Amino acid sequence: MSLSLGVMASGRGSNFLAVQKEIESGSLDAHVSLLISDRSSAPALELAKDRGVPAQHIPYNAKDRAAFETQAADAFAEAGCELILLAGFMRILTPVFITRFDNRILNIHPSLLPSFKGLHPQQQALEAGVKFSGCTVHLVNAELDAGPIVTQAVVPVFKGDDEESLAARILEQEHRIYPEAIRILAAALAVP
Ligand code: GRF
Repeated sequence: MSLSLGVMASGRGSNFLAVQKEIESGSLDAHVSLLISDRSSAPALELAKDRGVPAQHIPYNAKDRAAFETQAADAFAEAGCELILLAGFMRILTPVFITRFDNRILNIHPSLLPSFKGLHPQQQALEAGVKFSGCTVHLVNAELDAGPIVTQAVVPVFKGDDEESLAARILEQEHRIYPEAIRILAAALAVP
Protein backbone atom coordinates (compact mmCIF):
# COMPACT_ATOMS: atom_id res chain seq x y z
CA MET A 1 0.00 0.00 0.00
CA SER A 2 1.19 3.51 -0.84
CA LEU A 3 3.22 4.98 2.03
CA SER A 4 1.92 8.27 3.43
CA LEU A 5 4.70 10.83 3.75
CA GLY A 6 4.91 14.13 5.63
CA VAL A 7 7.55 16.67 4.61
CA MET A 8 9.08 19.54 6.58
CA ALA A 9 10.94 22.17 4.56
CA SER A 10 12.22 25.68 5.25
CA GLY A 11 13.45 26.76 1.83
CA ARG A 12 14.00 25.88 -1.81
CA GLY A 13 12.40 22.42 -1.69
CA SER A 14 14.49 20.64 -4.32
CA ASN A 15 14.67 17.45 -2.25
CA PHE A 16 10.91 17.47 -1.80
CA LEU A 17 10.57 17.91 -5.55
CA ALA A 18 12.95 15.03 -6.28
CA VAL A 19 10.85 12.73 -4.06
CA GLN A 20 7.59 14.01 -5.54
CA LYS A 21 8.84 13.39 -9.09
CA GLU A 22 9.73 9.77 -8.22
CA ILE A 23 6.22 9.37 -6.85
CA GLU A 24 4.65 10.91 -9.96
CA SER A 25 6.72 8.71 -12.26
CA GLY A 26 5.45 5.64 -10.41
CA SER A 27 8.86 4.50 -9.20
CA LEU A 28 8.14 5.25 -5.54
CA ASP A 29 5.00 3.74 -4.02
CA ALA A 30 4.16 6.66 -1.74
CA HIS A 31 2.32 9.96 -1.60
CA VAL A 32 3.02 13.21 0.22
CA SER A 33 -0.01 13.79 2.45
CA LEU A 34 1.21 17.10 3.86
CA LEU A 35 4.15 19.50 3.55
CA ILE A 36 4.75 21.88 6.44
CA SER A 37 7.04 24.89 6.38
CA ASP A 38 8.13 27.08 9.26
CA ARG A 39 8.67 29.95 6.75
CA SER A 40 5.73 31.49 4.92
CA SER A 41 8.01 32.56 2.04
CA ALA A 42 9.56 29.12 1.49
CA PRO A 43 9.51 28.21 -2.23
CA ALA A 44 8.79 24.63 -1.11
CA LEU A 45 5.24 25.71 -0.19
CA GLU A 46 4.56 26.95 -3.74
CA LEU A 47 6.20 23.88 -5.29
CA ALA A 48 3.89 21.66 -3.26
CA LYS A 49 0.76 23.63 -4.13
CA ASP A 50 1.69 23.63 -7.84
CA ARG A 51 1.82 19.84 -7.76
CA GLY A 52 -1.41 19.42 -5.82
CA VAL A 53 0.29 18.46 -2.56
CA PRO A 54 -1.42 19.82 0.59
CA ALA A 55 0.91 22.40 2.14
CA GLN A 56 0.71 24.50 5.24
CA HIS A 57 2.76 27.22 6.92
CA ILE A 58 3.04 26.92 10.69
CA PRO A 59 4.70 29.96 12.28
CA TYR A 60 7.82 29.18 14.31
CA ASN A 61 8.56 30.98 17.55
CA ALA A 62 12.02 30.16 18.94
CA LYS A 63 10.78 31.02 22.44
CA ASP A 64 8.05 28.39 22.23
CA ARG A 65 9.36 25.55 20.09
CA ALA A 66 6.95 23.10 21.68
CA ALA A 67 3.96 24.99 20.26
CA PHE A 68 5.25 24.64 16.68
CA GLU A 69 6.26 21.01 17.16
CA THR A 70 2.95 19.99 18.73
CA GLN A 71 0.97 21.72 15.99
CA ALA A 72 3.11 20.12 13.27
CA ALA A 73 2.95 16.64 14.81
CA ASP A 74 -0.84 16.94 15.24
CA ALA A 75 -1.23 18.03 11.60
CA PHE A 76 0.92 15.13 10.31
CA ALA A 77 -0.96 12.65 12.52
CA GLU A 78 -4.31 13.96 11.31
CA ALA A 79 -3.12 13.64 7.69
CA GLY A 80 -2.19 9.99 8.41
CA CYS A 81 1.57 10.42 7.76
CA GLU A 82 3.59 7.29 8.43
CA LEU A 83 7.04 8.65 7.66
CA ILE A 84 8.30 12.24 8.04
CA LEU A 85 10.99 13.64 5.73
CA LEU A 86 13.06 16.63 6.78
CA ALA A 87 13.99 18.22 3.48
CA GLY A 88 15.99 21.36 4.10
CA PHE A 89 14.19 21.95 7.40
CA MET A 90 16.43 24.42 9.19
CA ARG A 91 15.23 23.97 12.79
CA ILE A 92 16.40 21.54 15.40
CA LEU A 93 13.57 19.29 16.55
CA THR A 94 13.15 18.42 20.22
CA PRO A 95 11.72 15.23 21.79
CA VAL A 96 8.28 16.93 21.75
CA PHE A 97 8.14 16.13 18.02
CA ILE A 98 10.62 13.26 17.75
CA THR A 99 8.85 11.01 20.25
CA ARG A 100 5.61 11.34 18.26
CA PHE A 101 7.30 9.68 15.23
CA ASP A 102 9.90 7.47 16.86
CA ASN A 103 12.25 6.00 14.21
CA ARG A 104 9.98 7.40 11.50
CA ILE A 105 11.73 10.68 10.76
CA LEU A 106 14.38 10.91 8.03
CA ASN A 107 16.79 13.77 7.42
CA ILE A 108 19.14 14.46 4.54
CA HIS A 109 22.46 16.12 5.29
CA PRO A 110 25.06 17.23 2.73
CA SER A 111 28.13 15.51 4.20
CA LEU A 112 29.34 12.01 4.89
CA LEU A 113 28.16 11.80 8.49
CA PRO A 114 29.52 11.50 11.12
CA SER A 115 31.85 14.07 9.52
CA PHE A 116 30.78 17.72 9.29
CA LYS A 117 27.59 17.93 11.32
CA GLY A 118 25.59 21.14 11.64
CA LEU A 119 25.70 24.24 9.45
CA HIS A 120 27.76 24.72 6.25
CA PRO A 121 28.97 21.13 5.97
CA GLN A 122 30.26 21.70 2.42
CA GLN A 123 32.44 24.58 3.65
CA GLN A 124 33.58 22.45 6.58
CA ALA A 125 34.63 19.73 4.11
CA LEU A 126 36.60 22.24 2.00
CA GLU A 127 38.35 23.64 5.06
CA ALA A 128 39.25 20.13 6.23
CA GLY A 129 40.85 19.45 2.84
CA VAL A 130 39.08 16.12 2.28
CA LYS A 131 39.19 14.55 -1.20
CA PHE A 132 35.70 13.09 -0.93
CA SER A 133 32.49 14.29 0.62
CA GLY A 134 28.86 13.44 -0.06
CA CYS A 135 25.47 13.18 1.54
CA THR A 136 23.71 11.07 4.13
CA VAL A 137 20.11 10.09 4.82
CA HIS A 138 19.67 9.16 8.46
CA LEU A 139 16.98 8.58 11.04
CA VAL A 140 16.46 11.53 13.37
CA ASN A 141 17.04 11.21 17.09
CA ALA A 142 17.50 13.81 19.82
CA GLU A 143 21.18 14.35 18.92
CA LEU A 144 21.91 16.65 15.95
CA ASP A 145 22.81 14.79 12.71
CA ALA A 146 23.66 11.68 14.72
CA GLY A 147 20.85 9.14 14.15
CA PRO A 148 21.30 5.76 12.44
CA ILE A 149 22.46 6.08 8.82
CA VAL A 150 20.16 4.64 6.14
CA THR A 151 22.22 5.39 3.03
CA GLN A 152 25.02 7.61 1.74
CA ALA A 153 26.55 8.77 -1.54
CA VAL A 154 30.14 9.83 -2.09
CA VAL A 155 31.26 12.67 -4.39
CA PRO A 156 34.77 13.86 -5.20
CA VAL A 157 36.04 17.24 -4.00
CA PHE A 158 38.04 19.00 -6.73
CA LYS A 159 40.89 21.47 -6.24
CA GLY A 160 39.04 24.51 -7.58
CA ASP A 161 35.82 23.82 -5.66
CA ASP A 162 34.09 26.46 -3.61
CA GLU A 163 31.11 25.96 -1.31
CA GLU A 164 28.67 26.49 -4.16
CA SER A 165 30.24 24.09 -6.67
CA LEU A 166 30.63 21.35 -4.06
CA ALA A 167 27.06 21.87 -2.80
CA ALA A 168 25.72 21.52 -6.37
CA ARG A 169 27.63 18.26 -6.95
CA ILE A 170 26.36 16.88 -3.65
CA LEU A 171 22.77 18.04 -4.27
CA GLU A 172 22.57 15.96 -7.44
CA GLN A 173 23.28 12.88 -5.32
CA GLU A 174 20.85 13.99 -2.59
CA HIS A 175 18.06 13.91 -5.15
CA ARG A 176 19.01 10.33 -6.05
CA ILE A 177 19.45 8.89 -2.55
CA TYR A 178 16.49 10.46 -0.72
CA PRO A 179 13.92 8.42 -2.70
CA GLU A 180 16.22 5.39 -2.35
CA ALA A 181 16.27 5.80 1.46
CA ILE A 182 12.49 6.00 1.54
CA ARG A 183 12.31 2.69 -0.36
CA ILE A 184 14.74 1.10 2.10
CA LEU A 185 12.76 2.31 5.10
CA ALA A 186 9.40 1.43 3.57
CA ALA A 187 10.63 -2.14 3.09
CA ALA A 188 11.84 -2.25 6.70
CA LEU A 189 8.53 -0.88 8.00
CA ALA A 190 6.61 -3.49 6.00
CA VAL A 191 8.36 -6.33 7.84
CA PRO A 192 6.03 -7.50 10.63
C1 GRF B 1 20.06 20.29 1.18
O1 GRF B 1 21.41 20.42 0.85
C2 GRF B 1 19.89 19.39 2.37
O2 GRF B 1 20.82 18.36 2.42
C3 GRF B 1 20.11 20.34 3.53
O3 GRF B 1 19.51 21.55 3.12
C4 GRF B 1 19.48 21.61 1.70
C5 GRF B 1 18.04 21.78 1.31
O4 GRF B 1 17.84 21.91 -0.05
N1 GRF B 1 19.60 19.78 4.75
P1 GRF B 1 16.38 21.84 -0.67
O5 GRF B 1 15.50 22.84 0.10
O6 GRF B 1 15.87 20.44 -0.55
O7 GRF B 1 16.55 22.28 -2.10
